[in-house]
Amino acid sequence: FSEFLTDSFARRHNYLRISLTERCNLRCQYCMPEEGVDLSSKDKLLTSEEILQLAKVFVREGVQKIRLTGGEPMVRKDLHYIIEGLNALRSEGLRCLGMTTNGVTLSRQAERLSTAGLDELNVSLDTLVPAKFEFITRRKAWEKVMLGIDTSLKQNFSAVKINCVVMRGINEDEICDFVELTEEKNIDVRFIEYMPFDGNRWNFKKMVPFQEMLDVIKGRWPTLEKLNDKPNDTSKSFKVPGFKGQMGFITSMSNNFCGGCNRLRITADGNLKVCLFGNAEVSLRDVMRSGVQDEELLEIIGAAVRRKKKQHAGMLNLPKMKNRPMILIGKMLKTN
Ligand code: GTP
Ligand code: 5AD
Ligand code: SF4
Repeated sequence: FSEFLTDSFARRHNYLRISLTERCNLRCQYCMPEEGVDLSSKDKLLTSEEILQLAKVFVREGVQKIRLTGGEPMVRKDLHYIIEGLNALRSEGLRCLGMTTNGVTLSRQAERLSTAGLDELNVSLDTLVPAKFEFITRRKAWEKVMLGIDTSLKQNFSAVKINCVVMRGINEDEICDFVELTEEKNIDVRFIEYMPFDGNRWNFKKMVPFQEMLDVIKGRWPTLEKLNDKPNDTSKSFKVPGFKGQMGFITSMSNNFCGGCNRLRITADGNLKVCLFGNAEVSLRDVMRSGVQDEELLEIIGAAVRRKKKQHAGMLNLPKMKNRPMILIGKMLKTN
């Protein structure tokens, strides 16, 4: 495996998350500050050609999975062109192409995305109550997202997952309703511990820890079964016997999974971010635009990867650290 993508704890980074845009058509509270964020000017964002060039470098070094994120990746006009270009990297070793979306325009595009070669789709959905959706996302779009999910389930995706960020006092009363969705739908609902990012008003009390969620579900379904997880999975998986789908828990706060981390991220403005919570970033855009050869680019990537910390700073320290708002890392925006 590539020495450039191996860190000082012998973690091999074969999963790359690429953020395609800082824009989003929702305004989720947990993802961005109420006042929004300052968007980068267009010339600061990676072009589709730059994204494909970078992806090729990473795939040649051993990246096998690429996930497109945002902001909302589907607001990017050249999304399909980018997917086609990434799909062509299978001959270089790419095995899996995924996207994380808020699902607002999914019903119109699911079929085309599947045909273009997208394997996996993760859709953010935090509530099954339309009025609550409007409160959380500051937009009316619940029906569209539900239709998007159902349309996706009819396509050929190898996985369709729902990402549900659980927040105390907001949607923690819906945990069992989400589990019920897995009875008839072959879907993987992932309950995510609420994480602190700049401007998202996180506090300890709003976070519902994994064990508490599990207790609630076991109270209702005592036969809940633990499934095996793959070494680099972010989630711990479970299933109610007899249900078509399954559920998972992403426990970044109460029980981090940094030891098995295989992820690197590229922000829409072209920075390499070696950890979701680290603020150490290096601009690959500037390096590429200065016209260097791939070898030199790799040296810079390798140096950043080697600086990656063993694990994130912990629940008590993270809220004090400077980071980006989530929208500018790998999910969701500002401005109208
Ligand atoms: P899969 O490839 O399906 O496993 O997707 P994923 O869970 O890696 O990505 P997704 O975009 O669906 O994100 C789901 C949740 O996991 C979000 O809350 C992310 O912030 C969180 N997440 C994704 N990658 C990481 C990571 O490297 N570290 C931590 N701590 N959380 C992550
Ligand atoms: N805590 C946990 N998950 C978050 N996401 C966005 N902000 C947060 C947060 N503060 C999730 C979204 C999306 C995924 C990429 O990240 O639900 O599905
Ligand atoms: Fe990897 Fe950082 Fe997430 Fe830990 S917090 S799993 S090191 S990205």
